[in-house]
Amino acid sequence: MNHDPVPLPPDLYGRGRDDRFLRFLDAVTRFYLPIATRKDRYGRRVFPPPPAALDLVVAARATEAEDVVSLRLSAPDGRPLPPWQPGAHLDLVLPSGLRRQYSLCGDPADRRSYRIAVRRLPDGGGGSVEVHDTLLTGTRVAGGGPRNAFPFAADPAVLLIAGGIGITPILAMAREAAGRGLDWRLVHTGRSRASMPFADELTALGGDRVELLPDDEHGTPDGAELLRRAPAGSAVYVCGPAPMLDSVRGAFDACAATALHFERFSAAPIVDGRPFDLRLRSSGRVLPVPADRSALDVLRENDPDTPYSCRQGFCGVCRRRVTSGAVEHRDRKLTDQERAEGQMLVCVSRAPEGECLELDG
Ligand code: FES
Repeated sequence: MNHDPVPLPPDLYGRGRDDRFLRFLDAVTRFYLPIATRKDRYGRRVFPPPPAALDLVVAARATEAEDVVSLRLSAPDGRPLPPWQPGAHLDLVLPSGLRRQYSLCGDPADRRSYRIAVRRLPDGGGGSVEVHDTLLTGTRVAGGGPRNAFPFAADPAVLLIAGGIGITPILAMAREAAGRGLDWRLVHTGRSRASMPFADELTALGGDRVELLPDDEHGTPDGAELLRRAPAGSAVYVCGPAPMLDSVRGAFDACAATALHFERFSAAPIVDGRPFDLRLRSSGRVLPVPADRSALDVLRENDPDTPYSCRQGFCGVCRRRVTSGAVEHRDRKLTDQERAEGQMLVCVSRAPEGECLELDG
């Protein structure tokens, strides 16, 4: 886009010189307009990522278990960080440009650092390996948030259930429950004791309120067995892999608790999916989306660089613009206005059976 400088009008007081505010506004527009309207090599509109509001530095790094490191992230000048509540997560923009969310597992009263913990998953999407290999002490990293999609309501009686690295938001909830004097208990499952982070910290926090159940010692507990620990009328908070969540949800109606809150750390399951097609406007190529796969999966098969992060419809990284076709929106992020403008989060949203959605790109 050609954006030649144009003479600015006299200042707001009618004096024959540039107004400093208008000059500033012009400079900002000149900088951001090309970013906001840029297109990729296929001529597709590139939506700018949400602003990275936090400039952070890795202040400390520790090994917490097999393949698990924790990072303490601080502002480079040591200033206080935005407050957060248990259940909140931080967005990180990794050096490669990948965006990932990590639950905060430190102490909300510590305003000088955030703590996250990351398990290395060599077969994952690359984010965890990058954290392990590149976010060394002293590395600067951009972030956003914290945001909370898994709030802890501090009910009088609480059962906290964590599977593997799902302990991260649960640990912050346990600290809150202990601080408030709630009737709480926690059960943490994992492959083996050596693979389970924060065991000492949990035990110091809760003593016999905390139960560690490594699979290689106790077998893998099902949802009903985990929920047997729920006090009558309690609230249950669960974070872990999809099979564990499904098992807990399936057994919940038969347990003594009355409320279930959960957070998954894998792609959202596809419920009532129907097959539909995607047509890429740039090439005219048609990609069929089967009933049991997401549009994002199909797009990534076609182009492995297709951006994504949460795969649950709340971060907005995977948004695409639909130029024709009816979208079944299943996200928790887009506003009515954004939907009306044709935006779609392809990790979760779909289309009615047989529909063809044309994507701008
Ligand atoms: S990847 Fe986060 S909304 Fe789709």
